[in-house]
Amino acid sequence: MAAIWTVLLLLLGTLSTPTTANLEGDALFAFRRGLKDPQHVLQSWDPTLVNPCTWFHVTCDKDNRVTRLDLGNAKLSGKLVSELGKLKHLQYLELYRNKLVGVIPKELGGLKSLLSLDLYHNNLTGSIPSSLSKLTNIRFLRLNSNRLTGRIPRQLTKLPNLKNLDVSNNDLCGTIPTSGSFYKFTEKSFENNSRLQGPELMGSVSYDIGFCN
Ligand SMILES: *[C@@H]1O[C@H](CO)[C@@H](O)[C@H](O)[C@H]1NC(C)=O
Ligand SMILES: *[C@@H]1O[C@H](CO)[C@@H](O)[C@H](O)[C@H]1NC(C)=O
Repeated sequence: MAAIWTVLLLLLGTLSTPTTANLEGDALFAFRRGLKDPQHVLQSWDPTLVNPCTWFHVTCDKDNRVTRLDLGNAKLSGKLVSELGKLKHLQYLELYRNKLVGVIPKELGGLKSLLSLDLYHNNLTGSIPSSLSKLTNIRFLRLNSNRLTGRIPRQLTKLPNLKNLDVSNNDLCGTIPTSGSFYKFTEKSFENNSRLQGPELMGSVSYDIGFCN
């Protein structure tokens, strides 16, 4: 029975938009290539299949477009890749509690459908890309407990649907924006960034003043 379903799914995949499906599979496989996966959670990721929808930890919609990547707590190490930005229908990018290093690629700003970006508890470095301000649907943005540096991009305050922001436990600097959707976040979202000043409206600190590198 399962085999019949697999064959059906494969046929459907061939009939409907195979180029898109391959692009998404290629993007995910580009990510996999750079990862160390000691628990073999990515073993089912076979790049020769017509689409990645039967791979474990990947969820697709009825048109075989990737909507979720669920790889939290998977003991993965390696880097995020710019190709992930090609997953235009991705709603959940769940990569928390791994050992990811390197930067957050600015291309992740291309994930137009994203509702949740969970990269917390990794070892990511570099700054928070201002391109994340293009994620107009995003509700959950959790980048806490990494080694991120630089200022909090002020453009992020324009995200209309942001409900939960956590950038605590990093090495951010500058001031804490308080305008736009940021008015609702408490200091808890920003704690343990020893060089972060602010919040802007509470004191005499104005944005972008103060040493920050
Ligand atoms: C982050 O890197 C440090 C230093 O290399 C290491 O000690 C620590 O275990 C790493 N943390 C994670 C969550 O990978
Ligand atoms: C502060 O954040 C750093 C970086 O993530 C972390 O290593 C450290 O344990 C945190 N300190 C506290 C008191 O939570």
